Amino acid sequence: MKQVTYEGLTFEPYISKSDIAARVEELGKEIVRDCAGKMPLFVCVLNGAFPFASDLFRAVESIDAEITFIRLKSYEGTSSTGAVKEVLGLGEDIEGRTLIIVEDIVDTGNTIYRLVDDLSKHKPAEIKIATLLFKPDALVRPVKPDYVGFSIPTKFIIGYGLDLNGKARNLNDIYILKEQ
Ligand code: HPA
Ligand code: MG
Repeated sequence: MKQVTYEGLTFEPYISKSDIAARVEELGKEIVRDCAGKMPLFVCVLNGAFPFASDLFRAVESIDAEITFIRLKSYEGTSSTGAVKEVLGLGEDIEGRTLIIVEDIVDTGNTIYRLVDDLSKHKPAEIKIATLLFKPDALVRPVKPDYVGFSIPTKFIIGYGLDLNGKARNLNDIYILKEQ
């Protein structure tokens, strides 16, 4: 692994492809243990979570599970923080289901907080949160992810689904912004 550059910013290797794969397998085992017999519905939050969701979902092959995909759209007229989001694409009836929201990252927690609030209105049996990355020091909402791949400092990272303005999602490893 070597440094990569996007939009004039330099990033250095942070979490390797093999470390990600090993951790995802462990999370899969935790979910198998907790959710056997519950037919959990994985809810992948596009775009960033798609590589993680793909790997995590296949790490639970020993139990019955389903997956669906949603997208969060900022409401018109909100500030560029994009804190207020609308859920698009949830076709399933989720009443009484065990949901596992699959996120690439929980940063401020604003997005996931809003999402849990919205999904709760449809009366699922329970909502669990699986996030590949968690920035505990950036949290501004009372959010506690159930399955965390890696807790990381409040620094900008890219790769394995995480983007910089749409770029770098296809990097197999995770990279962290270098002090410039
Ligand atoms: N990288 C990419 N996307 C993000 C991040 C990050 O560190 N935090 C929230 N969204
Ligand atoms: Mg992004």
